[in-house]
Amino acid sequence: MPNRYEELTKLRKKNVPQAPYNITPAFIREARGALMIDVEGRELIDFAGGIGVNNVGHCHPKVVAAIKDQADKCIHTCFHVAMYDAYVDLAARLNALAPGDFPKMTMFANSGAEAVENAVKIARYNKKRPAVICFENGYHGRTLYTLSLTSKIKPYKFGFGPFASEVYRIPFAYCYRCPFGLQYPGCSVACADYLEDVFVSHVSAEATAAIIAEPIQGEGGFITPPPEYFSKVQKIAQKYDIAFIIDEVQTGVGRTGKFFAIEHWDIAPDILTLAKSLAGGMPLSAIIAREELINKIHVGGLGGTFSGNPVSCRAGLAVLEIMLEDGLLQRAQRLGEKLFAQFKNLQEKFEIIGDVRGKGPMLAMELVRDRETKTPAKEEADKLVKICFEKGLVLLSCGNFGNVIRTLMPLVITDEQLQRGLSMLEEGFQELIT
Ligand SMILES: Cc1ncc(COP(=O)(O)O)c(C=O)c1O
Repeated sequence: MPNRYEELTKLRKKNVPQAPYNITPAFIREARGALMIDVEGRELIDFAGGIGVNNVGHCHPKVVAAIKDQADKCIHTCFHVAMYDAYVDLAARLNALAPGDFPKMTMFANSGAEAVENAVKIARYNKKRPAVICFENGYHGRTLYTLSLTSKIKPYKFGFGPFASEVYRIPFAYCYRCPFGLQYPGCSVACADYLEDVFVSHVSAEATAAIIAEPIQGEGGFITPPPEYFSKVQKIAQKYDIAFIIDEVQTGVGRTGKFFAIEHWDIAPDILTLAKSLAGGMPLSAIIAREELINKIHVGGLGGTFSGNPVSCRAGLAVLEIMLEDGLLQRAQRLGEKLFAQFKNLQEKFEIIGDVRGKGPMLAMELVRDRETKTPAKEEADKLVKICFEKGLVLLSCGNFGNVIRTLMPLVITDEQLQRGLSMLEEGFQELIT
């Protein structure tokens, strides 16, 4: 008799294409907080959070109550057809929260990629210029334009060209593997100054509408620039009247211990994108921008059928309450401190951990075969994810070389669950090297 997992796997293989990949061989029956239970009744500790979506935890009671209440009242009108309070309430709250002492406005979309598409449309419309500068190791989504901005070829871009034109990619502040062969702080953050060279040899500043960056590159390997980096980049953008877009799809909504990760660098971008954890698992993304930019677009120029769905917006309001009023941000900061200490501990024990980086609980370990040569340990990272899954821990890798182990666990994870997960991770490393 096949078990339920085998039955579902057969059904999946027959009816669903292989391209939407699966990291773990599991079908989930239910999930709460930082725990998932699969169809066989097996408990899994979740260090992945549905790729950074479950910051407030799976099925947070306040999110579930908001969804149920809204579903009872009204599921969809389309904001363009008939408006509703949750959309404008959530927009007002995000405008007040976003960094920058200037008027802001927010509109909603469905996914991270859609938010990025809109951000670029807003920049191009205002600046009347075609080009966008993005970064090596950056990830912005899978639609044609966002894939053009994305840096990793396999699996994301491979075979899907031609891509959008007028996209220029430059090195990021990847200090562990400095693209300029320099060392921080002696480098004086030369990677930021390099932007001025780009205007000489790649694209003119006069043709550049926007520079788009993630505060911490997520899929690219949790690459975390030094403190001076973004203010330098922003100054150059301002000098040439280029819109500065910060993509907080993965880093936002408390992931790094601050609501917006860019607050760690103390700058206010012109346009911000949010998605993933914004609505506690419901599809919702936001584009928050300077009023003078976003409100210049003509009526009907932006939007979409499902954009800012009432159920998702109500879930988003519940997420803000949990994050800000119930103290989850402070809890995230404490979680980050604990994780950092434990990861450093692991690094002392295991040679394979070349670098530990990130902010708050958005932390990663880059695995290398040799600390001198820094040869990426991709196969080892894949193996570690498998070993950990067998122990009951769901873990994700990332990075252009696929050799970075990242943690995106729900911020509500209990101390006991965290310790259990970290013990499995340590045992996993032990098995990996023996
Ligand atoms: C920084 C960043 N931008 C955009 C996206 C695309 O978001 P979505 O998958 O919701 O389209 C992602 C997804 O991982 C992301 O990490």
